[in-house]
Amino acid sequence: MEQTQKIIQEGKQQFLKELIELLKIPSVSADSSYDNDTKRCAEWVKSAMDSIGLQSAKIYETSGHPVVFGELIKSTSLPTVLIYGHYDVQPPDPLELWTSPPFEPIVKDEKIYARGAADDKGQFYMYFAAIKSMIEADEVPCNIKVLIEGEEEVGSENLETFVLNNRDLLSNDVILISDTHMISNDNPSITAGLKGLAYMEVEVTGPNRDLHSGTFGGSVANPVNILCKMIASLTNEKNQITIPGFYDKVLEVSEEEKIEMGRAPFDLESFKKGLDVQEEYGELGFSTLERQGIRPTLDVNGIWGGYTGEGAKTVLPSKAYAKISMRLVPNQNSNEIAELFKKHFESIAPKSVKVKVIAHHGGEPAVTDLTSKGYKAASKAMESTFGKTPIPVRQGGSIPIVSFFENTLNSNCILMGFGLNSDAIHSPNEHFGLFNFYKGIETIPYFFKYFSE
Ligand code: BES
Ligand code: MN
Ligand code: MN
Repeated sequence: MEQTQKIIQEGKQQFLKELIELLKIPSVSADSSYDNDTKRCAEWVKSAMDSIGLQSAKIYETSGHPVVFGELIKSTSLPTVLIYGHYDVQPPDPLELWTSPPFEPIVKDEKIYARGAADDKGQFYMYFAAIKSMIEADEVPCNIKVLIEGEEEVGSENLETFVLNNRDLLSNDVILISDTHMISNDNPSITAGLKGLAYMEVEVTGPNRDLHSGTFGGSVANPVNILCKMIASLTNEKNQITIPGFYDKVLEVSEEEKIEMGRAPFDLESFKKGLDVQEEYGELGFSTLERQGIRPTLDVNGIWGGYTGEGAKTVLPSKAYAKISMRLVPNQNSNEIAELFKKHFESIAPKSVKVKVIAHHGGEPAVTDLTSKGYKAASKAMESTFGKTPIPVRQGGSIPIVSFFENTLNSNCILMGFGLNSDAIHSPNEHFGLFNFYKGIETIPYFFKYFSE
């Protein structure tokens, strides 16, 4: 890998320039007004695959945003690594909180700022740079397949169909993904587990129309008041979730494993300081890292109803709404949890209101086998470039396709992310450190090498 590393060092400026081009494309998957840009982004990814030297790069249409796939098959006797990433990004709003426009990338303080910088354009582009360098150096030790999709941020539903229809195309010995973060630049880590997700939307209806809140207030149910009470009752004074059966299938983590988790460097004071909060919060009896990594959670993502415009309008609204997500851990199942939520939420609604509960597409949790060949290769690769053995950590985010891949393609997913949890993904001023971008590019070739040995 010596020649590869040399080419990487010489190519750094060029890789950054290419990433900047990619970050300029506003590929917001959730918002159809960006559909042309999202399509343009898929085309950009396809031509990038061509220019780094992948064979038969192609755009595959789906019922949603397209999938882009390319490969480099050296020999059927060599192992095959499948790379997965996503070219779609989260909506950039609230725009007014960005210090520079989200789709006009800039480099400031050794970080690149743009929507998608860390999630996931900056991270999947590391592979393009690494693969290009390996090909140029003639140091490709295995077969490489690259799959970049456009719907991760909206749940990857159409990718599931694509995977089911293209098992042979996607067949592999390991799946490698950089779409998560490390503990810090001095404490490299590998994501050893992800949470699943059940995502609900609820509608509470009170009277058949908005009413004068003086004339009718206190004599008819206000759906916003009721919704707040119902949501408040979903957790108890220990911050445990009260939905009957919710914890039934939760795989408890052994004391040994918890002690192991507790060894990960974590400073509660700087955690609180970084977020400007006086005190941490969460389920009684668990540490912050445990709450984030191994315990299921429930959060309101949005709540609305009634008057929210300027000034005061006295009104008793007819309807109230909320979007509520539950992050799940092994062995919870997203459909089962969605069903439990629906049954419970309907049952706690007072007769004075009507409720409607719908489930959005969810995803299943994942855990990494730390004894697998893929994990060991990732660990060795990071050790080569960081000079330290990475620590395995479970994280609270979700990548719905991970467990789907494992179940349909029968291989392990390795989550070797290079971001930081301070990268502001999904937030204003998302950024990705240049250190992280380059370190990722340098580390990736070692993964291919060690996995192929
Ligand atoms: N890259 C994230 C997932 C992530 C972030 C994992 C941080 C671990 C640490 C991914 O793009 C994402 O945002 N996923 C969504 C899934 C959802 C839209 C179905 C999430 O976790 O909210
Ligand atoms: Mn992502
Ligand atoms: Mn994301």
